Amino acid sequence: MASFRASIAVALLCCFSESVRAATHEHTYSVPAAVQSGPSASQLVYSSSLGLEAPKISSVSNTSFDWWYFDAVSSNPEDFSSVTVVFYTANSNSFPFLPTMDTVTPVQISGSFPNGTLWGGAEFVGASGASVSISAEGHSAKGVWHDTGFSWSASSASEYHISVDSATLGIKGTISFKAVAPSHLPCGKVENGTTMLLGGQIGWAISVSDSDSFVDLRIGDEQLKFQGLGYHDKNWANIPFTTHVQSWYWGHARVGPYSIVWFDMLDLNNTEHVSAYVSRGDEILVGSCNPGTIQVRPQPMAYPPTLSTPDPTGYQISIPSEKMQVTVGGLVPLIGANPEYVRFFGNLTAVVDGGKVYHGTGLMEQFKLTA
Ligand SMILES: *[C@@H]1O[C@H](CO)[C@@H](O)[C@H](O)[C@H]1NC(C)=O
Ligand SMILES: *[C@@H]1O[C@H](CO)[C@@H](O)[C@H](O)[C@H]1NC(C)=O
Ligand SMILES: *[C@@H]1O[C@H](CO)[C@@H](O)[C@H](O)[C@H]1NC(C)=O
Ligand SMILES: *[C@@H]1O[C@H](CO)[C@@H](O)[C@H](O)[C@H]1NC(C)=O
Ligand SMILES: *[C@@H]1O[C@H](CO)[C@@H](O)[C@H](O)[C@H]1NC(C)=O
Repeated sequence: MASFRASIAVALLCCFSESVRAATHEHTYSVPAAVQSGPSASQLVYSSSLGLEAPKISSVSNTSFDWWYFDAVSSNPEDFSSVTVVFYTANSNSFPFLPTMDTVTPVQISGSFPNGTLWGGAEFVGASGASVSISAEGHSAKGVWHDTGFSWSASSASEYHISVDSATLGIKGTISFKAVAPSHLPCGKVENGTTMLLGGQIGWAISVSDSDSFVDLRIGDEQLKFQGLGYHDKNWANIPFTTHVQSWYWGHARVGPYSIVWFDMLDLNNTEHVSAYVSRGDEILVGSCNPGTIQVRPQPMAYPPTLSTPDPTGYQISIPSEKMQVTVGGLVPLIGANPEYVRFFGNLTAVVDGGKVYHGTGLMEQFKLTA
């Protein structure tokens, strides 16, 4: 494992141009806008020296991708406000849900107004490259997608901020995240030497499992201002996304005192890969990737889903170790219709230990990629 980590560190040093500012112990990775040739290495074992936010692939090729994903969604079940921002280092060959562009560093922003009307569905802005800086301890970090007006920053492991000033899109404002739950990896706590493999060669690191979020955006002539729950993670791989994925269900929510993040993916060999996370305050109650720790199923029940399966009206999520049964309903689409991909706002009811009932809201997505 140690030698694997060392080789990744070398790979990251070799392929992105990297500079180290001695005074601040800050590393900056520069990701060029042009697609790179040759194989790309993928970091799948956590090391605190690279932290959660450093790029996890050594170069962005036609077969590798990496992204920094952020969202915020209303905590009021009758207010469907949301925003999602994705800072990509990927292209349409490695992640076919991107448009064909002449840069591997696009940013996407989309969301919904309080009444559920969508805004910015297919809005991508292409950056002329990206810079990601991390402090030596990996706690503070910053990502700038050049010439887009979009950047993200973390002043500590628990405070993130997105700044948007895009004349191209006519969108300007800020989104802030103050974490209320510990970060995690697919199998639980963030610890040196722990796997970041979710399944099917795809890496996953969740810096902000749940946060109090403040959104203040001007979108054209409209204002979108709300307080809700925010989330931030990364996914990456050095193989194209569709090489391994048959379907997946992911989401995050807050129900009563619990923050939950679920993941249930089916690879092309029909093997289910799961990740369950439940926290309460500073404590991770469930952090596991063991088979059976969590099961996510669509309502009405149609599993495995195929391209022709209609979008669900809800989900049932069970987490046996906490005796937690979650019903997700009231789904409101947060992105334009697409048979392969959909993102929803949902309201949740969790029944814990057969008796206690909690309510909340969350944001979730699903992929179904096979006929
Ligand atoms: C990436 O794929 C495109 C075709 O979509 C091709 O034109 C280009 O040469 C490839 N680039 C590299 C570096 O392999
Ligand atoms: C984790 O491992 C890295 C080397 O990969 C080391 O520099 C760092 O001090 C370790 N951190 C902890 C918290 O043990
Ligand atoms: C929904 O809200 C948006 C933003 O305020 C507004 O432009 C739109 O007209 C509303 N739609 C309906 C159907 O009320
Ligand atoms: C599926 O199984 C085959 C044969 O065992 C193996 O080569 C391949 O890597 C597996 N694919 C996934 C996605 O696990
Ligand atoms: C939650 O969704 C259900 C539909 O599944 C709906 O009946 C209910 O009114 C919603 N609750 C709230 C508070 O909006």
